[in-house]
Amino acid sequence: MSQPATREFRDALGKFATGVTVITTTSEKGEPVGVTASSFNSVSLDPPLVLWSLAKSAASMRAYEKSGGFNVHILAADQEAISNQFARPGDDKFRGVDWKPCDRGYPILPEYAALFRCETQYQYEGGDHLIFVGKVIEYETRNAPVLVFHQGAYVDIRSRKKAEGKL
Ligand SMILES: Cc1cc2nc3c(=O)[nH]c(=O)nc-3n(C[C@H](O)[C@H](O)[C@H](O)COP(=O)(O)O)c2cc1C
Repeated sequence: MSQPATREFRDALGKFATGVTVITTTSEKGEPVGVTASSFNSVSLDPPLVLWSLAKSAASMRAYEKSGGFNVHILAADQEAISNQFARPGDDKFRGVDWKPCDRGYPILPEYAALFRCETQYQYEGGDHLIFVGKVIEYETRNAPVLVFHQGAYVDIRSRKKAEGKL
């Protein structure tokens, strides 16, 4: 067994394949805020709860701590570019994105495989991250294959299935 030293520990955690989400909210000034997050997961069906975690070093941390809610977009397989755009630190993440505000003002992206609109129920300390638990107010799904992230890279399940003649 190994001690959880940084590089190898990250690689070991990367053995767990995840989907990819972009999670949006608004800043205290009302500006749109968004980050790419693969830490999203389901928690509870009744009440309907989901969670994700954000690095305490993230520039957008204060917005998520204060806004009271967020929108989770599960990305479709063809949204690698959006994933990369929201993973880059900076203020221009929404450039070229035709987003609309939900009734609470949080951005809704035009494309996604699923959308969960959440109100923040709990915030927990999680080492160098903060864990947000959201209660799902409403959700929507679309018939699209999803983007998958595994061992530090996107997995294109569609082209793999095509190559295998299964699509
Ligand atoms: C596929 C992928 C998944 C990511 N998942 C997370 C995550 O779950 N939590 C997190 O804090 N950062 C995650 N990141 C990194 C953030 O998206 C990145 O640090 C972003 O710039 C943070 O935005 P901010 O600095 O504007 O707050 C992920 C990046 C990628 C490419």
